[in-house]
Amino acid sequence: MIKKCLFPVAGYGTRFLPATKAMPKEILPIVNKPLVQYGVEEAAEAGFHEFGFVTGRGKRAIEDHFDISYELEHQIAGSGKEDLLTSIRDLIHNNSFAFTRQNEMKGLGHAILTGRNLVGDNPFAVVLADDFCVTEPGTDGVLAQMVKLYNQFRCSIVAIEEVPADETHKYGVIAGEAMKDGLYRITDMVEKPSPDKAPSNLAIIGRYILTPDIFDIIERTAPGKNGEVQITDALLEQAKNGCVLAYQFKGQRFDCGSIDGFVQATNYVYENIYKQGK
Ligand code: G1P
Repeated sequence: MIKKCLFPVAGYGTRFLPATKAMPKEILPIVNKPLVQYGVEEAAEAGFHEFGFVTGRGKRAIEDHFDISYELEHQIAGSGKEDLLTSIRDLIHNNSFAFTRQNEMKGLGHAILTGRNLVGDNPFAVVLADDFCVTEPGTDGVLAQMVKLYNQFRCSIVAIEEVPADETHKYGVIAGEAMKDGLYRITDMVEKPSPDKAPSNLAIIGRYILTPDIFDIIERTAPGKNGEVQITDALLEQAKNGCVLAYQFKGQRFDCGSIDGFVQATNYVYENIYKQGK
Protein backbone atom coordinates (compact mmCIF):
# COMPACT_ATOMS: atom_id res chain seq x y z
CA MET A 1 0.00 0.00 0.00
CA ILE A 2 1.25 3.51 -0.76
CA LYS A 3 0.03 5.92 1.90
CA LYS A 4 2.03 9.09 1.53
CA CYS A 5 1.51 11.88 -0.92
CA LEU A 6 3.86 14.82 -1.28
CA PHE A 7 2.91 18.29 -2.49
CA PRO A 8 5.81 20.56 -3.49
CA VAL A 9 4.24 23.99 -2.94
CA ALA A 10 7.19 26.32 -2.42
CA GLY A 11 7.07 27.98 -5.88
CA TYR A 12 6.51 31.73 -6.11
CA GLY A 13 3.66 31.82 -8.63
CA THR A 14 5.16 34.83 -10.39
CA ARG A 15 2.85 34.41 -13.40
CA PHE A 16 -0.08 35.38 -11.18
CA LEU A 17 1.40 38.55 -9.68
CA PRO A 18 0.11 40.73 -8.16
CA ALA A 19 -2.49 38.15 -6.95
CA THR A 20 0.26 36.02 -5.46
CA LYS A 21 2.18 38.83 -3.78
CA ALA A 22 0.82 38.06 -0.31
CA MET A 23 -1.03 34.80 -1.04
CA PRO A 24 0.27 31.38 -2.13
CA LYS A 25 -0.75 30.51 -5.69
CA GLU A 26 -2.01 27.16 -4.40
CA ILE A 27 -4.71 29.00 -2.42
CA LEU A 28 -6.09 30.80 -5.50
CA PRO A 29 -9.65 29.51 -5.90
CA ILE A 30 -11.02 27.54 -8.79
CA VAL A 31 -14.59 28.79 -8.27
CA ASN A 32 -14.92 28.33 -4.48
CA LYS A 33 -12.14 25.91 -3.56
CA PRO A 34 -8.39 26.48 -3.43
CA LEU A 35 -6.43 24.82 -6.21
CA VAL A 36 -4.42 22.70 -3.76
CA GLN A 37 -7.57 21.23 -2.20
CA TYR A 38 -8.55 19.66 -5.53
CA GLY A 39 -5.18 17.90 -5.61
CA VAL A 40 -5.58 16.67 -2.03
CA GLU A 41 -9.09 15.41 -2.81
CA GLU A 42 -7.83 13.53 -5.87
CA ALA A 43 -5.18 11.88 -3.69
CA ALA A 44 -7.63 11.10 -0.87
CA GLU A 45 -9.94 9.44 -3.41
CA ALA A 46 -6.97 7.35 -4.55
CA GLY A 47 -6.57 6.05 -0.97
CA PHE A 48 -3.88 8.38 0.39
CA HIS A 49 -4.25 9.52 3.99
CA GLU A 50 -0.90 11.05 4.84
CA PHE A 51 -0.08 14.31 3.13
CA GLY A 52 3.27 16.06 3.21
CA PHE A 53 3.78 19.61 1.96
CA VAL A 54 7.11 21.10 1.00
CA THR A 55 6.38 24.75 1.62
CA GLY A 56 8.42 27.93 1.70
CA ARG A 57 8.28 31.47 2.94
CA GLY A 58 4.89 33.13 2.53
CA LYS A 59 3.01 29.83 2.37
CA ARG A 60 1.48 29.75 5.85
CA ALA A 61 -2.04 30.01 4.43
CA ILE A 62 -1.70 26.42 3.14
CA GLU A 63 -1.09 25.13 6.69
CA ASP A 64 -4.01 27.16 7.98
CA HIS A 65 -6.27 25.81 5.24
CA PHE A 66 -5.65 22.22 6.34
CA ASP A 67 -6.31 23.00 10.00
CA ILE A 68 -9.49 23.75 11.93
CA SER A 69 -10.40 27.40 12.36
CA TYR A 70 -12.23 27.45 15.71
CA GLU A 71 -13.11 31.10 15.37
CA LEU A 72 -14.74 30.53 11.99
CA GLU A 73 -16.55 27.41 13.21
CA HIS A 74 -17.92 29.44 16.13
CA GLN A 75 -18.95 32.32 13.85
CA ILE A 76 -20.90 30.23 11.36
CA ALA A 77 -22.45 27.74 13.81
CA GLY A 78 -26.23 27.94 13.38
CA SER A 79 -25.98 30.39 10.45
CA GLY A 80 -27.01 27.85 7.81
CA LYS A 81 -23.61 28.17 6.14
CA GLU A 82 -21.94 25.24 7.91
CA ASP A 83 -22.18 23.04 4.81
CA LEU A 84 -19.74 25.27 2.96
CA LEU A 85 -17.00 23.87 5.18
CA THR A 86 -17.97 20.21 4.83
CA SER A 87 -15.44 19.26 2.15
CA ILE A 88 -12.45 20.71 3.98
CA ARG A 89 -13.65 19.48 7.39
CA ASP A 90 -13.88 15.93 6.05
CA LEU A 91 -10.36 16.12 4.65
CA ILE A 92 -8.98 17.46 7.95
CA HIS A 93 -10.69 14.79 10.04
CA ASN A 94 -9.83 11.80 7.87
CA ASN A 95 -6.22 12.55 7.00
CA SER A 96 -2.97 13.82 8.48
CA PHE A 97 -1.01 16.80 7.20
CA ALA A 98 2.68 17.51 7.74
CA PHE A 99 4.78 20.43 6.56
CA THR A 100 8.43 21.10 5.96
CA ARG A 101 10.19 24.03 4.34
CA GLN A 102 12.37 24.26 1.29
CA ASN A 103 14.49 27.29 2.14
CA GLU A 104 16.21 27.57 -1.25
CA MET A 105 14.55 27.17 -4.65
CA LYS A 106 16.76 24.62 -6.34
CA GLY A 107 14.26 22.78 -8.51
CA LEU A 108 11.59 20.09 -8.29
CA GLY A 109 14.13 17.34 -7.58
CA HIS A 110 15.47 19.35 -4.65
CA ALA A 111 11.91 20.03 -3.40
CA ILE A 112 11.13 16.31 -3.45
CA LEU A 113 14.39 15.54 -1.64
CA THR A 114 13.41 18.13 1.00
CA GLY A 115 10.28 16.05 1.60
CA ARG A 116 12.34 12.95 2.44
CA ASN A 117 11.84 13.33 6.18
CA LEU A 118 8.06 13.36 5.64
CA VAL A 119 8.07 10.31 3.39
CA GLY A 120 10.69 8.02 4.94
CA ASP A 121 11.61 4.78 3.26
CA ASN A 122 8.27 4.31 1.54
CA PRO A 123 6.94 4.53 -2.00
CA PHE A 124 5.01 7.77 -2.35
CA ALA A 125 3.05 9.94 -4.75
CA VAL A 126 3.87 13.49 -5.83
CA VAL A 127 1.15 15.90 -6.91
CA LEU A 128 1.90 19.24 -8.53
CA ALA A 129 -1.27 21.15 -7.68
CA ASP A 130 -0.82 23.42 -10.73
CA ASP A 131 -1.83 20.50 -12.90
CA PHE A 132 -5.53 20.23 -12.18
CA CYS A 133 -6.95 16.93 -13.45
CA VAL A 134 -10.52 15.82 -13.97
CA THR A 135 -11.98 12.52 -15.12
CA GLU A 136 -15.45 11.35 -16.12
CA PRO A 137 -17.85 11.15 -13.15
CA GLY A 138 -17.79 7.69 -11.58
CA THR A 139 -14.36 6.84 -12.99
CA ASP A 140 -10.98 6.74 -11.22
CA GLY A 141 -9.05 9.98 -10.81
CA VAL A 142 -5.60 10.18 -12.37
CA LEU A 143 -3.74 9.24 -9.18
CA ALA A 144 -6.09 6.31 -8.53
CA GLN A 145 -5.36 5.03 -12.06
CA MET A 146 -1.64 5.25 -11.28
CA VAL A 147 -1.95 3.48 -7.91
CA LYS A 148 -3.53 0.50 -9.69
CA LEU A 149 -0.54 0.37 -12.03
CA TYR A 150 1.90 0.71 -9.14
CA ASN A 151 0.28 -2.23 -7.37
CA GLN A 152 0.84 -4.27 -10.52
CA PHE A 153 4.38 -3.16 -11.48
CA ARG A 154 5.94 -1.83 -8.21
CA CYS A 155 8.11 0.82 -9.85
CA SER A 156 8.15 4.57 -10.37
CA ILE A 157 5.45 5.91 -12.71
CA VAL A 158 4.96 9.33 -14.31
CA ALA A 159 1.74 10.57 -15.88
CA ILE A 160 2.06 11.78 -19.47
CA GLU A 161 -0.02 13.37 -22.18
CA GLU A 162 0.54 14.34 -25.79
CA VAL A 163 1.41 17.99 -26.32
CA PRO A 164 1.92 20.02 -29.53
CA ALA A 165 5.55 20.03 -30.72
CA ASP A 166 5.93 23.74 -29.97
CA GLU A 167 5.14 23.15 -26.28
CA THR A 168 7.77 20.55 -25.40
CA HIS A 169 9.95 23.29 -23.89
CA LYS A 170 7.48 23.57 -20.99
CA TYR A 171 7.71 19.94 -19.85
CA GLY A 172 9.80 16.90 -19.13
CA VAL A 173 9.47 14.79 -22.30
CA ILE A 174 9.89 11.01 -22.47
CA ALA A 175 10.76 8.32 -24.97
CA GLY A 176 9.72 4.77 -24.25
CA GLU A 177 8.88 1.30 -25.46
CA ALA A 178 5.15 0.68 -25.58
CA MET A 179 4.18 -2.12 -23.16
CA LYS A 180 0.45 -1.93 -23.74
CA ASP A 181 -2.07 0.73 -24.67
CA GLY A 182 -1.02 4.01 -23.04
CA LEU A 183 1.81 2.46 -20.99
CA TYR A 184 5.50 2.89 -21.82
CA ARG A 185 8.73 1.70 -20.31
CA ILE A 186 10.90 4.82 -20.26
CA THR A 187 14.14 4.76 -22.25
CA ASP A 188 14.86 8.49 -22.34
CA MET A 189 13.72 11.69 -20.66
CA VAL A 190 14.67 15.29 -21.31
CA GLU A 191 13.68 18.31 -19.22
CA LYS A 192 12.09 21.11 -21.24
CA PRO A 193 13.65 20.33 -24.65
CA SER A 194 13.24 22.52 -27.70
CA PRO A 195 11.13 20.75 -30.38
CA ASP A 196 14.22 19.58 -32.29
CA LYS A 197 15.69 17.97 -29.13
CA ALA A 198 12.45 16.42 -27.88
CA PRO A 199 12.48 12.60 -27.96
CA SER A 200 8.68 12.56 -28.55
CA ASN A 201 5.59 14.68 -27.92
CA LEU A 202 4.76 12.80 -24.70
CA ALA A 203 5.04 15.28 -21.83
CA ILE A 204 5.17 14.57 -18.11
CA ILE A 205 2.38 16.18 -16.12
CA GLY A 206 2.36 16.72 -12.36
CA ARG A 207 1.50 13.26 -11.07
CA TYR A 208 4.25 10.86 -10.04
CA ILE A 209 4.56 7.68 -8.04
CA LEU A 210 8.13 7.23 -6.85
CA THR A 211 9.96 4.41 -5.14
CA PRO A 212 12.12 5.62 -2.22
CA ASP A 213 15.46 4.77 -3.86
CA ILE A 214 14.82 7.98 -5.83
CA PHE A 215 16.07 10.02 -2.82
CA ASP A 216 19.63 8.69 -3.01
CA ILE A 217 19.55 9.19 -6.78
CA ILE A 218 18.42 12.81 -6.41
CA GLU A 219 21.26 13.40 -3.95
CA ARG A 220 23.72 12.32 -6.65
CA THR A 221 21.97 14.30 -9.42
CA ALA A 222 23.83 17.38 -10.60
CA PRO A 223 21.86 20.55 -11.39
CA GLY A 224 20.49 20.35 -14.95
CA LYS A 225 18.13 22.57 -16.95
CA ASN A 226 18.07 26.14 -15.62
CA GLY A 227 20.69 25.20 -12.99
CA GLU A 228 18.05 23.29 -10.99
CA VAL A 229 18.06 19.72 -9.66
CA GLN A 230 15.52 18.07 -11.95
CA ILE A 231 13.38 15.08 -10.99
CA THR A 232 13.41 14.23 -14.71
CA ASP A 233 17.20 13.65 -14.59
CA ALA A 234 16.93 11.51 -11.44
CA LEU A 235 14.15 9.44 -12.99
CA LEU A 236 16.21 8.82 -16.12
CA GLU A 237 18.99 7.49 -13.88
CA GLN A 238 16.46 5.26 -12.10
CA ALA A 239 15.14 4.07 -15.48
CA LYS A 240 18.64 3.06 -16.64
CA ASN A 241 19.04 0.64 -13.75
CA GLY A 242 15.48 -0.53 -13.34
CA CYS A 243 12.04 0.22 -14.58
CA VAL A 244 10.26 3.56 -14.77
CA LEU A 245 6.87 3.67 -16.47
CA ALA A 246 5.05 6.48 -18.24
CA TYR A 247 1.27 6.31 -18.23
CA GLN A 248 -0.99 8.19 -20.61
CA PHE A 249 -3.81 8.83 -18.16
CA LYS A 250 -7.53 8.87 -18.91
CA GLY A 251 -8.93 12.31 -18.20
CA GLN A 252 -8.33 15.97 -18.84
CA ARG A 253 -5.66 18.21 -17.38
CA PHE A 254 -5.61 21.98 -17.03
CA ASP A 255 -2.33 23.85 -16.66
CA CYS A 256 -3.30 26.09 -13.76
CA GLY A 257 0.26 27.42 -13.64
CA SER A 258 -0.79 29.61 -16.60
CA ILE A 259 -3.53 32.23 -16.72
CA ASP A 260 -5.19 30.57 -19.75
CA GLY A 261 -5.30 27.13 -18.11
CA PHE A 262 -6.51 28.62 -14.84
CA VAL A 263 -9.42 30.37 -16.55
CA GLN A 264 -10.29 27.22 -18.55
CA ALA A 265 -10.30 25.16 -15.33
CA THR A 266 -12.50 27.77 -13.65
CA ASN A 267 -15.02 27.64 -16.50
CA TYR A 268 -14.95 23.84 -16.48
CA VAL A 269 -15.56 23.57 -12.74
CA TYR A 270 -18.27 26.23 -12.80
CA GLU A 271 -20.22 24.47 -15.57
CA ASN A 272 -19.57 20.83 -14.74
CA ILE A 273 -19.16 20.68 -10.98
CA TYR A 274 -20.38 23.81 -9.21
CA LYS A 275 -23.62 24.34 -11.17
CA GLN A 276 -24.43 20.61 -11.13
CA GLY A 277 -24.16 20.56 -7.33
CA LYS A 278 -26.59 23.47 -6.83
C1 G1P B 1 7.77 20.41 -13.70
C2 G1P B 1 8.73 19.31 -14.18
C3 G1P B 1 8.44 18.92 -15.63
C4 G1P B 1 6.97 18.54 -15.75
C5 G1P B 1 6.07 19.65 -15.23
C6 G1P B 1 4.63 19.20 -15.19
O1 G1P B 1 8.06 21.59 -14.40
O2 G1P B 1 10.07 19.77 -14.04
O3 G1P B 1 9.26 17.84 -16.00
O4 G1P B 1 6.70 18.26 -17.11
O5 G1P B 1 6.43 20.03 -13.89
O6 G1P B 1 3.78 20.26 -14.84
P1 G1P B 1 7.52 23.04 -13.94
O7 G1P B 1 6.16 23.17 -14.53
O8 G1P B 1 7.49 23.03 -12.44
O9 G1P B 1 8.49 24.03 -14.51
